[in-house]
Amino acid sequence: MTLDVTMDNSLLTVNYDSKPCYDIAFENNFDNLLNMMSKAIDLDGIKVCIVSDSNVSNYYLDEVKSILSPAVSLVTDFVFNAGEASKNLDIVRSLYTHLIENNFERRDILVALGGGVVGDLTGYAAATYLRGVNFVQIPTSLLSQVDSSIGGKTGVDFDSYKNMVGAFHMPKLVYINISTLKSLKKREYLSGMGEIVKYGIIRDSVFFDWVVEHADKIKSLDIDTVKAMVYRSCDNKREVVEEDPKEHGIRAYLNYGHTLGHAIEKLSNFSYLHGECVAIGGILAAEISKDLGLIDEDCVNKIKEAYYLFDCPDITEYDVSKVVKTTKSDKKMSAGKIKFILIKSIGDAFISRDVSDEEMTKVLEEYKNAKG
Ligand code: GLY
Repeated sequence: MTLDVTMDNSLLTVNYDSKPCYDIAFENNFDNLLNMMSKAIDLDGIKVCIVSDSNVSNYYLDEVKSILSPAVSLVTDFVFNAGEASKNLDIVRSLYTHLIENNFERRDILVALGGGVVGDLTGYAAATYLRGVNFVQIPTSLLSQVDSSIGGKTGVDFDSYKNMVGAFHMPKLVYINISTLKSLKKREYLSGMGEIVKYGIIRDSVFFDWVVEHADKIKSLDIDTVKAMVYRSCDNKREVVEEDPKEHGIRAYLNYGHTLGHAIEKLSNFSYLHGECVAIGGILAAEISKDLGLIDEDCVNKIKEAYYLFDCPDITEYDVSKVVKTTKSDKKMSAGKIKFILIKSIGDAFISRDVSDEEMTKVLEEYKNAKG
């Protein structure tokens, strides 16, 4: 099948409350950044704080700063240590201090330049500083380009609870420069496929097949192929968040693979990447769907093959009972029950509140025994 690789995959508009809210720009460089930002925000006389981490800032901070500097009154930057361990209220507090010391006011803006940690943390600071200032997402990892930069979920971890403190706060613009993926380590790039394969599994079987067919080009980072893939993923996410912006219904489908995936990620002390854990969680959710008679073995194998095509690691060092226990502290609970996302086929997800601890234990043990 083809996936409009040749068409103009350069812009999507995300609606909120049935009105256009923000654009997602798909570019191969930063040349159009100032133009897109000035369409989204009145830049005249404002201050900009670029928030980035100790990895990404080495590659792109100077370039983005020099693009924005001529158009605004001040560009400042706030750079923190890369990694999930920084996604906490202490770093947000330091960022507030930086903004106060630089006299940031209501009209001034934050720009998140980095992956999911940078985007979530910056968005949360933007949602809360002075009761809310504008922010722009420049996601530089595959995972943040196709998932976390879109839909207005912002937040930080609290103690060992992932994303426990947060707010919905929509960006003014999401500017995706596909070329930034070239500076990622291969493992980090491929881990983003955990979320991309997920879109196929939960709602887009055509895309699922396309991703499998184009695995070689995706792995070698063929820019046109990857751009089409990122665009289609964002279009899936756009449709979901437009229909259910605050996760009262179908937005929860995006959590496919996340119930067990998050628990495994947390117990590994984040030594595995989020997308890798989502992939394992996705395989286990498929196994549960099979055990409940919803899909057959062939369907599970297709899902496994898709994840393994993108070098999803075998993660087996978990303690089964601890993983099951940890799922209870996940914030995706409702009335004390886990909202588990299962599938009836590739492309057709639903929410189940009936997945038992025994069922989770069974698939976790089988996976561990088969792979360990
Ligand atoms: N990352 C899942 C969501 O945005 O709802």
